[in-house]
Amino acid sequence: ETYASRVQRNESFKKLEEDDVAFFRGVLQDDHGVITDADDLLFYNEDWMRKYRGQSSLVLKPKTTEQISKILAYCNEKKLAVVPQGGNTGLVGGSNPVFDEIVISLSSLNKIRSFDPVSGILKCDSGVILETADQFLAENGYIFPLDLGAKGSCHVGGTVATNAGGLRLLRYGSLHGSVLGLEAVLPDGTIYNSLDSLRKDNTGYDLKQLFIGSEGTIGIITGVSILCPSRPVAFNVAFLAVSSYEAVQKVFVGARRELSEILSAFEFMDGKSQVLTARHLKLDHPIESGEYPFYILIETSGSNKEHDDEKLETFLGNAMEEGLVDDGIIAQDDTQVKSLWSWRESIPEASTIGGGVYKYDVSLPLADLYGLVEEANVKLAKAGIVGLDDESKPVVDAIGYGHVGDGNLHLNVCVREYSKEIEAVLEPFVYEWIQSKKGSISAEHGLGFQKKNYIGYSKSDIEIKMIKEIKNHYDPNGIMNPYKYV
Ligand code: FAD
Ligand code: MLT
Ligand code: ZN
Repeated sequence: ETYASRVQRNESFKKLEEDDVAFFRGVLQDDHGVITDADDLLFYNEDWMRKYRGQSSLVLKPKTTEQISKILAYCNEKKLAVVPQGGNTGLVGGSNPVFDEIVISLSSLNKIRSFDPVSGILKCDSGVILETADQFLAENGYIFPLDLGAKGSCHVGGTVATNAGGLRLLRYGSLHGSVLGLEAVLPDGTIYNSLDSLRKDNTGYDLKQLFIGSEGTIGIITGVSILCPSRPVAFNVAFLAVSSYEAVQKVFVGARRELSEILSAFEFMDGKSQVLTARHLKLDHPIESGEYPFYILIETSGSNKEHDDEKLETFLGNAMEEGLVDDGIIAQDDTQVKSLWSWRESIPEASTIGGGVYKYDVSLPLADLYGLVEEANVKLAKAGIVGLDDESKPVVDAIGYGHVGDGNLHLNVCVREYSKEIEAVLEPFVYEWIQSKKGSISAEHGLGFQKKNYIGYSKSDIEIKMIKEIKNHYDPNGIMNPYKYV
């Protein structure tokens, strides 16, 4: 069964013909920017989890905003459907075609445009890889206000299009706040540009917000202007073992109170996620005294190492004394900082160790956060389909981890195969559970194809109507990323 079999191709879209490809070759004037070879197309047709696979026969890699404008104007006139694609690391099947949509990859639109070392404002093309942007900023004493495990592949534009949250949202806030302006091409080829916006601008609707988190449904982001903070010079990472979810919450409250302005990340992982990560990394866990039900990664970053060390030591001493923390380790150098982070950042890869993963990326009130993982485990166990080391069972395990500081849980049901049987156990149960706690069915990955039918669990009818009206206004032919959430 393919995911495409769950939707119908919209027959009002034109099917690609040789004349169309010839037109695009004329616009791009570069044969490397036009991909039609079946083997080369596979990367663009398939998602990171290898769950969704489209059947596009054409990928275009424009190098300029003007080329994108010409391509979109043509597609709009001819009713050729398109999918914008960044680094293709999205986790909801939003970046891949479902049928024969043309993939417009931003990977060749990848220049830093300018950087102002006084204000910290970076302007860059949307196809700049996140890590490249951050390395450039590091050379100038600044940091990108977003960090996530996919930084080596995802694009700045892709993170804006999904409104990615990541590992340091707790410190730097959401892209809705740090992005100052955008350049984007509308479906009819119009180029919208607010890249020169300054920090404060109260002249009417804040139009850029429409594109942040739009997931490629109303236009293609081609340029981003973003406010970047000074790069901290002192980093500390502590990795702690605790024996209950109750303790995770208490340590979080203490960390906010005692570490206050130097706290830059507070991540939690359950013991099951660490078992899979140890298998994936083929390493012994850094906490050697045994397996614990929960682990916490705390990062501090600031301008004075001695000051930060002292604060962290006092905080950890207090937490130990109160009996909240069972064991822990503090990184002694940069290598250990990276290595401790890898026990958190490698979980997405470890989650696919059996072959596949069902990901639920949810916002919940903190008190209820881990309850969803417990309930999911009960459901799966009742269905008799889980076995960590039992190859005959389709589910490896259901694990939980995430950005506690943001009330964002990742429930991952790690599987040996994708099947309707597993899905029937999980859906709509997971969405109903989230709704009953007044949570959100997507905290940071978006809706894409995976959650297209579930938006109603988090948005009211009026909100959905308004979303559709905006979509129809800017994309009346519906050519932008069809079959997805709107
Ligand atoms: P893609 O996957 O290519 O695209 C994502 C969506 O945006 C698609 O709908 C696409 O059509 C659209 N799009 C892409 N570029 C453009 C553009 N220029 N204009 C218009 N639309 C566009 N997310 C988090 O929020 N927090 C995390 O901590 C996090 N960690 C991750 C770790 C790993 C290992 C992986 C694989 C993913 C992770 N993600 C995380 C998922 C996250 O959504 C992506 O990594 C990132 O935001 C998507 O960037 P991308 O360039 O790969 O976009
Ligand atoms: C993460 O926090 O690791 C990401 O959102 C990716 C994921 O959940 O797989
Ligand atoms: Zn995440």
